[in-house]
Amino acid sequence: EKGGHSSFMEKEILEQPTAIASTLLGRTDAEGALVLDELRISEEQLRAVTKIVIVACGTAFYSGMTAKYAIEHWTRIPCEVELAHEFRYRDPVVDQHTLVVSISQSGETMDTLMAVKHARELGALTISICNTHGATIPRESDAVLYTHAGPEIAVASTKAFTAQITACYVLGLYLAQLRGGSYAEEAQQVMRELHEIPSKVETLLAGMDRVREIARFMADTRSVLFLGRHVGYPIALEGALKLKEIAYIHAEGFAAGELKHGPIALIEPGQPVFIVVPGPDTPHGLHGKVVSNIQEIRARGARTLVIAEEGDEDVVPFADEVIRVPQAPPLLEPLLTIVPLQVFAAELASAKGLDVDQPRNLAKSVTVE
Ligand code: M6R
Repeated sequence: EKGGHSSFMEKEILEQPTAIASTLLGRTDAEGALVLDELRISEEQLRAVTKIVIVACGTAFYSGMTAKYAIEHWTRIPCEVELAHEFRYRDPVVDQHTLVVSISQSGETMDTLMAVKHARELGALTISICNTHGATIPRESDAVLYTHAGPEIAVASTKAFTAQITACYVLGLYLAQLRGGSYAEEAQQVMRELHEIPSKVETLLAGMDRVREIARFMADTRSVLFLGRHVGYPIALEGALKLKEIAYIHAEGFAAGELKHGPIALIEPGQPVFIVVPGPDTPHGLHGKVVSNIQEIRARGARTLVIAEEGDEDVVPFADEVIRVPQAPPLLEPLLTIVPLQVFAAELASAKGLDVDQPRNLAKSVTVE
C-alpha cells in the first residue's frame, strides 16, 4: 500500500499537495466567500467569541502555534495555544465566550480529549479540527472541521500537519468574515492565495534531491539546531520534533530572537543549524533580523542550512547550503518551509537504517495519559 515508496512517511510527505487542496475544497461559495455550514455553531455564538484557546499535543500543537499568528492577525480575537495536558490541570480562564479549538489527527489523543471535556464543563464552545471521521474528540465537541488529509499511517505526522494549518486558517478567515472587521475583505484574497499553495508544494517536492543528499551526509550527526522567527518559529520546533522522533538525534528548535538570551552559547564549530528565514516582505524587518542571526552563528563556526524563498539573495553570503522554497505571503510560508525539514528527517532516518514509520517507543495515537 506504500505505492512504491520506501515508507508511508515518504508517501504521506508527497501527498501534501492533495491534503491541503482537499482541506480547502468546498469551503468557499461561487463568489469566493467562506462557507462553513458544517460547523453547527450559530453565527451569533461565533460573533460573541472574545477569546480563542487552541489545545493539542505534539505536531498538532505546533500547527496551533502557527495558526495563532494568522488567527489573531485576521480576527483580532486574542488566541492562546496550550498543550492539552497543561491546560487540563491548570485553572484556565474559560467561559461561554471562549472558543476552545482542539487539533488532533487521530481524534483519540487522551490528553486532548480530556482538555475538551474540561473546556465544555467550563461552558466553552468547542470545535475539533480532526482528520478521522467519527473519532471520539469530534463526537465530544460542539462542532468539527475535518482536515481531509486521508489516513495517516506513519507515526511521524506530516500531511496531517499541513492540513491542520490549512483548516485553522480556514476557520480564522471564516471568523474574520463573520465579524466583518478590517480583514473581512482580505479573507477572500487569502483564500485565493491558499489555493495556490498545493502547486507550490508540488514544485518544492520535485526539487528535494539536494536536501536528501545533505541528510545522507549527516547520518552520523549528534545534534541539530533549528531556528525560526514569527511563523517560522513553530516550524523550527516541528522540524526538530521530526528529527528526534524518527532519527533519534538530539534536536532543538529556538525562536531566532532568543539566540542571544542563551542558545547561542551552544554554537561551536561544525554545529549544524537549520534556519527558517522569513520572506523579504515579512513585516517589521524580520527578514533582515534573521539574516543577521545567520551571520552571527556562522561567525562562531555553525554550519548554516538555510531555508529561504526563491530569489532571496541576502542569505547567500552566510549560508553553507540554501534550500529554496517558492515565494508565498508570509503567513502561508509554513506550508512550504516545513516540507524540506520533513524530507530531511525521513531521509536521515532511512540512511541510518531505522524504521521510519514505526519509531521506537512511540505509538500513532496516544490514548493513555
Ligand atoms: O492524533 P493527534 O494529532 O492528537 O496526535 C498528537 C501527537 O501525539 C502527534 O502529533 C505526535 O506528536 C506525532 N507523532 C508527531 O509526529
